[in-house]
Amino acid sequence: NNNDSSALRMVLIGPPGAGKGTQAPNLVNKFGAYHLSTGDMLRSQVSQGTPLGVEAKKIMDQGGLVSDDIMIGMIKQELSTNPTCSTKGFILDGFPRTIPQAEKLDEMLDNLKAPLQKAVELKIDDELLVSRITGRLVHPASGRSYHKIFNPPKKPMTDDVTGEPLIQRSDDTEDALKKRLNSYHKQTEPIVQYYKNKGIWSGIDAAQDPTKVWNDILKCLGF
Ligand code: AP5
Repeated sequence: NNNDSSALRMVLIGPPGAGKGTQAPNLVNKFGAYHLSTGDMLRSQVSQGTPLGVEAKKIMDQGGLVSDDIMIGMIKQELSTNPTCSTKGFILDGFPRTIPQAEKLDEMLDNLKAPLQKAVELKIDDELLVSRITGRLVHPASGRSYHKIFNPPKKPMTDDVTGEPLIQRSDDTEDALKKRLNSYHKQTEPIVQYYKNKGIWSGIDAAQDPTKVWNDILKCLGF
């Protein structure tokens, strides 16, 4: 077992548009931990046109959740084979999204003798999320996200780092957002209480500007 006790092992929780994908790269830069975004993993299956991708796209565009079994299998594969996860730790973004996923995650990490250290909830009112989601631009290959108004790329529709084109996600419509928020409140929010009971939860005001959100994340990690 080569788990480093100083490695970061955390979960980012929050509704669509809360800033999980915006803040995760900061954590990667600072701690060298691996960013595990189940949404990005699914979108990569979609763009490769795999059978899972074809099924997942239908569910994602309708704002529903892909089955627990599929998602647990995906994360298990990464956590048990990705060397950076065991040496430097990981930031889970978009997983767990249900109580069964949270329970399975604990079971997996217990087996790896590498328990979660922190679950950070990005808290924000639903009303603020419409403009964030409908203005979002993403660089599919890296998962980097921008915003037409709040965080524009240096050159319109172009990734700052690679110069490649940015796109809008097919589930970033007002209609799909309503359903995603509904799934979040019904199925995902109960995991907040799950982590409160374990004593590893911290909540952050995610309506602040991104630099303040980042400072608050560092504070709750003890920096
Ligand atoms: P996923 O990709 O995880 O989508 P999501 O949870 O809806 O989250 P988002 O990526 O929309 O939001 P974010 O918090 O990352 O926001 P961002 O930082 O980009 O999942 C997609 C789908 O996959 C799900 O609907 C489901 O179908 C399926 N799925 C995934 N995981 C699953 C699982 N475990 N089980 C079952 N199904 C699963 O920010 C948004 C915008 O706001 C950006 O434009 C950004 O620039 C801007 N912004 C960010 N922070 C600020 C700020 N502080 N102030 C102003 N603007 C800001």
